[in-house]
Amino acid sequence: MANVIVIGAQWGDEGKGKITDLLSRSADVIVRSQGGVNAGHTLVVQGQTFKLHLIPSGILYKDKECIIGSGTVVDPKVLLEEIAQLSRLNVSTENLTISQTAHVTMPYHRIIDQASEERRGKHKIGTTGRGIGPTYADKSERTGIRIIDLMNEDSLRQKLEWTVNYKNVILEKLYNLEPLDPATVIEEYIGYAEQLKPYVIDSSLRIYEAIQKRKNILFEGAQGTLLDLDHGTYPYVTSSSPIAGGACVGSGIGPTMIDRVIGVAKAYTTRVGEGPFPTEISGEMGEYLSERGCEFGTTTGRRRRCGWFDAVIGRYAVRINGLDCLAITKLDILDELDEIQVCVAYQLDGKICHHFPSNAKDFARCQPIYKTVPGWKQSTVDCRTLEDLPKKALNYLKFLAELMEVPIAIVSLGASRDQTIIVEDPIHGPKRALLDPNGDVAHNYF
Ligand code: IMP
Ligand code: MG
Repeated sequence: MANVIVIGAQWGDEGKGKITDLLSRSADVIVRSQGGVNAGHTLVVQGQTFKLHLIPSGILYKDKECIIGSGTVVDPKVLLEEIAQLSRLNVSTENLTISQTAHVTMPYHRIIDQASEERRGKHKIGTTGRGIGPTYADKSERTGIRIIDLMNEDSLRQKLEWTVNYKNVILEKLYNLEPLDPATVIEEYIGYAEQLKPYVIDSSLRIYEAIQKRKNILFEGAQGTLLDLDHGTYPYVTSSSPIAGGACVGSGIGPTMIDRVIGVAKAYTTRVGEGPFPTEISGEMGEYLSERGCEFGTTTGRRRRCGWFDAVIGRYAVRINGLDCLAITKLDILDELDEIQVCVAYQLDGKICHHFPSNAKDFARCQPIYKTVPGWKQSTVDCRTLEDLPKKALNYLKFLAELMEVPIAIVSLGASRDQTIIVEDPIHGPKRALLDPNGDVAHNYF
C-alpha cells in the first residue's frame, strides 16, 4: 500500500495529468484536494482527447474512485458539463464523489474576478477569470456557500438571498456593474443541487476509511509550487495551496498517512499569466518552444510564456514539497535544439544566489546564470528505455537530477501513455537521500 501525492514543481501545466493518469493504474482512489476549474488537464487516451478541469483524471479507469476533496472550489455548471462530456464519450462517473465541505463558485465570483483584474490595470495577476480567487476569499471571509449548503433548499434560499444582495452592493458600488437577481441565482443553483446530490459525501471520512483498508490513494495536484498562495511568487499566484502540505489540508487527512511525494517538471519552464519569470525566453526561441510544445492554456487558450529549465525553482520545489523523486515531461520538445540552457543559480546585486528568494521584488530582479549544454538533435518520441535515449539527452537528464539532488523516476516524451520511460519505480524506488556525514550527496541520482 502507498499513498502518493503528485505535485507540479513549476508554475503549473507540467504535464501532471498524464503522470497522474499513469500512476492511477496502481491507485484505488484518486483525490483532488485544491483549486477549481482554473486547472486544466489534457489527456490523450487511445487517440481521444479529454479536457478535464475539476474531475480527477483517474475517472477514465472504471474501477477507481475519484474524489473532489474539501479544499477544492466547485463550479457546479462546469462540473456538470464535464460529467456530460464524459458521458457522451461513454465514460461513467458512477465512481465520482464530491466533498460536502468544498466551497461553491457562484456567478458573482466570476464577475468579481474579471472586474477586479480590469481594475488592477497593469498590476493585474492574469487570473483565469473563473472566479477562483473570490471563491476562496469568501471562504476566508466566512461568507462562502458550501456544497452542503446546496443540499438544503430552504436554508440555501435564505443564505443566497442575503449573499447575493451583499455582493450586489460590491457589484454596483465598487465596480459600477448591474446587480444580479437573487431569485435567478437561487433557481439556477437549486437546479444544480438536484443534479449534484448523488455525488455528495463526507470525503475526509471516505479517504480515511480507504486508507485504513490499505487502499492506495493518489493525491492529484493542480497548478504548481510557484503558484502556491503562501510559498509561490505572491501576489502572482493562485489562491489555494498546490504544494504537498496542501494535499493533506485539502483532503482532510494527516501527514503521517502520506508515503511519497512525486514532483512533475517540464524539461523547460512555462508560465501563464503575469509575474516574474527569470528564465523566460523572448523572441523567436520562446515562440518556437510555445509552438512546438503546444503551450496554450487548457482553460483560457492563452499562449504560455516559455523559458529554460530553472534549477533554482526546481530545488525550491524539492524543499517546499519534500519531493522524493521527479517526473520530467516534454523532453522531446527540445529534440531539435543545437544547444540548451539550464539556469543553475541567479545573480542578485552582484551576489550568486542558489536559493529562491521569497521576496517577490528580489525574485523579479534575479538574473539567471546559465550553463549551456549541447542538444541531441535526434527524435526521442519513440524511446522507451534510458538506453534508447541519445547520450546527450541522457546527460541532460542527469544534469537536472544532480542540480536538484533528487532522482528522476519517469521521463515523458509525448502526450500518449506509452511515450514514457519508467526509470525507477516512482512509488517504491529510490528517493531523495539525506547528505552523508561529510555533507556530500549520498547517492548517484541516476
Ligand atoms: P487564478 O487561479 O485563476 O486565480 O489565477 C491566478 C494565477 O494562477 C494566474 O497566473 C493563472 O494563470 C495561474 N493559474 C491558475 N491555474 C493554473 C493552471 O492550472 N495552470 C497554470 N497556471 C494556472
Ligand atoms: Mg493545466
